[in-house]
Amino acid sequence: MINKGMEKALNGQINAELYSFYLYLAMSVHFQQTNFAGLAGWMRAQAQEEMGHAMKFIDYLHERGGAVTLTAIDQPKGEWPSVLAAFEAAYGHEKSITKRINDLMDKAIAAKDHATANFLQWFVKEQVEEEAVLDPIVMRLQAIGDHPGALYYLDHQLGKRGA
Ligand code: FEO
Repeated sequence: MINKGMEKALNGQINAELYSFYLYLAMSVHFQQTNFAGLAGWMRAQAQEEMGHAMKFIDYLHERGGAVTLTAIDQPKGEWPSVLAAFEAAYGHEKSITKRINDLMDKAIAAKDHATANFLQWFVKEQVEEEAVLDPIVMRLQAIGDHPGALYYLDHQLGKRGA
């Protein structure tokens, strides 16, 4: 059975993953409303991944005899001044999630909770991927600037993810 401190921390992560879902859903809606259908699809796929992450934590807590407590999810922003600003916010958000996962891992190791440490390994790897995907998109957007043709090309390219 999982210890109470770890149970509380994992419940906090469920909320963080659901907030991630909500944030990317808000970005998807924003892109849809600003005529970037490809980026909207990309963000919707990202949101769905986050829902999957929340479910993994819920399933794991159940497996370990822990109690799942669902708490209020903060309201995300609804608009961003540019495509670059939205992706910079997404990248910054993923860095904060990486820190959270690392803190959870530290907590599991300190508690000698090997099962939770092993479970968290998947997320350690996932966060490397999340950052590795967003970093080059941000760099491309910085290079693109306000060039509409290049922005719409990126919209088309990234839209293939949701297709
Ligand atoms: Fe669930 Fe994007 O980290």
